[in-house]
Amino acid sequence: MSIFHYFFGNDKQRAKFVFNFIAPLYGKIDQAIQNDYAKICNQLNTAIPLKGNSVLDIGTGTGGWLASIGKYTQGELVGVDFSTKMIHQAEKNHPSIKFIHSDAENLDSFADNSYDIVTASFVLHGMKAPERAIVVKEMKRIARKYVMIQDFHKHTAPVIQFLEFMERSDYKNFKKNFVAEMDTNFEKTKLVESASGNAVYVGLL
Ligand SMILES: C[S@@+](CC[C@H](N)C(=O)[O-])C[C@H]1O[C@@H](n2cnc3c(N)ncnc32)[C@H](O)[C@@H]1O
Repeated sequence: MSIFHYFFGNDKQRAKFVFNFIAPLYGKIDQAIQNDYAKICNQLNTAIPLKGNSVLDIGTGTGGWLASIGKYTQGELVGVDFSTKMIHQAEKNHPSIKFIHSDAENLDSFADNSYDIVTASFVLHGMKAPERAIVVKEMKRIARKYVMIQDFHKHTAPVIQFLEFMERSDYKNFKKNFVAEMDTNFEKTKLVESASGNAVYVGLL
């Protein structure tokens, strides 16, 4: 992937370029990311007891979300990402966790109902609705109990809005439509909201 893909590539090529480019920086702030996620994981654990569940994390980045949630689940943890550089940083930061290079839109190597929780943190807002729908369906197929999506919900800080603009993400439509998108897949969607304007959307199976 080169800068050419940022300007002239399709959405996926642009995203891969961006995430490979920022992976070393992401790796350095991984601990800060975990500290930031600790509070919402605590709220999540109060809403849905996490202990004993296995977790598959889609778009794991450097593994910060997976490591945070893993403190509560204390079961098997696996992270998946399509950026080889993110996977490299994740392996450096979390040597005890298994990471796999794979595209979220093609998770055929994971069997139906093979993980208790299938999660994704700040991944789906980056995709357009049709790709999001494919990924949510795949996550539902693999999950035994819960699909948990941590992402934008209400207020988004101006600096984040700028970064999302640079990434050319779909975060505005995501915020408007994602509850309805979850409702088409799950009988019940539970929302665990953080003070910073984000939420974990939990699809119950
Ligand atoms: C904003 S980062 C979030 C990383 C991590 N989940 C977290 O919360 O810290 C988005 C991650 O999703 C990955 N990603 C985006 N689209 C993907 C896809 N189609 N397949 C696999 N990974 C993807 C990117 O490479 C990147 O690591």
